[in-house]
Amino acid sequence: MAETIPDLRDIPRRAAYAELTRHVNFVLAGIEDSIAGMATVSALVHSALGFLWTGFYRVVEPGDLMRIGPYQGKLGCLEIAFGKGACGKAAAERRTVIVDDVELFPGHITCDARSRSEIVVPVFGQSGELIAVLDVDSDKPGAFTDDDRAGLEALVQWFQRAA
Ligand code: SME
Repeated sequence: MAETIPDLRDIPRRAAYAELTRHVNFVLAGIEDSIAGMATVSALVHSALGFLWTGFYRVVEPGDLMRIGPYQGKLGCLEIAFGKGACGKAAAERRTVIVDDVELFPGHITCDARSRSEIVVPVFGQSGELIAVLDVDSDKPGAFTDDDRAGLEALVQWFQRAA
């Protein structure tokens, strides 16, 4: 396959996410497997934008528990309860959570001490059910804005047509 991962670190985030969405749709054309989707999105987002950790926690007990899914970066914690940390908050509230400074976020779950800020986006399936969250961590404080929220929320819309 000729498609390679672009380096989008130096272009405006909106344009970067538009390009990433194009890549995701191209690479995953004809695929409906959500795990394949998570692996592809993790690899593309992580490498194109140079983040510290990029990956998914999958809902294994709805309303209660998530377990690690495909990711890029150092070892992540294996399970996160709904309501715990930024990931659990995003899952429990079914909305995107942006943490500008992890040291000021009550209950932050530290997987990599270099992490300074993060964004967690809920991922919905075909019937609008929460299937996972996408967690992206940066080693820079305040790394995520509404452009990241809009871009990542658009990107994970792919999962609404996955199986
Ligand atoms: N920081 C996350 C936990 C997951 S990892 O950082 C990979 C949180 O507070 O939910």
